[in-house]
Amino acid sequence: MLYFDHGATSYPKPKSVTAGALRAMESFGANPGRSGHQLALKASREIFDARETVAKFFNIKDPKQVIFTSNCTEALNLAIKGVLTKGDHVITTSMEHNSVLRPIKALENEGVENTIIQCRPDGSLPLEKVDQSIRENTKLIVLTHSSNLTGTLMPVEEVGKIARERGILFLVDAAQTAGLYPIDVEKMYIDLLAAPGHKALLGPQGTGFLYIKEDLYLKTLKEGGTGSKSQDLIQPDILPDRYESGTPNTPGIAGLKEGIRFILEKGRDNLLHHEESLVKYFLEEMKKLDFIHVYGPKDCKKQSPVIALNFRDMDSSEIAYILDSMFDMAVRPGLHCAPLAHKTIGTLEQGAVRFSFGYSTTLEDVKKAVEAIKSIGIEL
Ligand code: ALA
Repeated sequence: MLYFDHGATSYPKPKSVTAGALRAMESFGANPGRSGHQLALKASREIFDARETVAKFFNIKDPKQVIFTSNCTEALNLAIKGVLTKGDHVITTSMEHNSVLRPIKALENEGVENTIIQCRPDGSLPLEKVDQSIRENTKLIVLTHSSNLTGTLMPVEEVGKIARERGILFLVDAAQTAGLYPIDVEKMYIDLLAAPGHKALLGPQGTGFLYIKEDLYLKTLKEGGTGSKSQDLIQPDILPDRYESGTPNTPGIAGLKEGIRFILEKGRDNLLHHEESLVKYFLEEMKKLDFIHVYGPKDCKKQSPVIALNFRDMDSSEIAYILDSMFDMAVRPGLHCAPLAHKTIGTLEQGAVRFSFGYSTTLEDVKKAVEAIKSIGIEL
């Protein structure tokens, strides 16, 4: 199987990631932070190391500000619902995933207003609209770093600067970029950073995190056992315990640490250049085919390794089925949980066929994809 669905999750994981998760289960599969015995301490140490590794990778000063979650969606929910209350206003864009749009829409029922900035047909953000959308009660701006549909890279630092100057909190959804693109929470004025552990960070599924800047106090999504201040019936305020109730995903978090170590070993920039070169080649080949319509920036420097396309007016799911059943290739068709993004690029009815590349994708793989696309084209 040739796997072109890294936008959904990276696969296969580096061997060290699988080994890291397995080691956690076999060697110290105890409950971290709950007891003082040796195995529990080993498990705690592993989570501490992983938290520190994540913090360093994103230039987060204090690892305690990294909250482990079960995925990026949970991190986004914690940030959005933790910050916003009745009477607040939030700004976001039409290129967001439902993991941003649905929590924001759900908050409408609680009296939280929103503005969804309409992006251009290539998914890019008209920056001036950010300023124009700010109201007196604007509390939060939520922006994806890269669209999961078109790959369009967003001007995170510029928007962060506007937010900081206007005293508005800035939440970045790094679902498609964390692990591959440089993200520095200080330099980019990011107050809250949500990321999955299982995409370009190469960790196991069931992992993710939210960075919360120092002194920012969020409402909790859940309360429960933390292994700390057990005499209190009130959720403890200390970090990360305040936001991390229940037994953590120790094997997953151990694997995530290995994912980041793998990236550091290979060099994040090297991985990025490799994936950019694949996108460049693929886009050039697609340009030659008159039956293919590519969406988005069509420029490897302006998009993450995600390419959305359609075969004339063919249904995207039908094409994905042909690629899977006849060519043994995995892509993602349909609406990609991003209905407003599809509306923005004009594919709400047809959907789109999304190819997404990752660290393990080779030029040979991409060449095979091009050949498969050409063969399907002959039949059209
Ligand atoms: N959000 C993931 C995707 O874009 C699952 O496929």
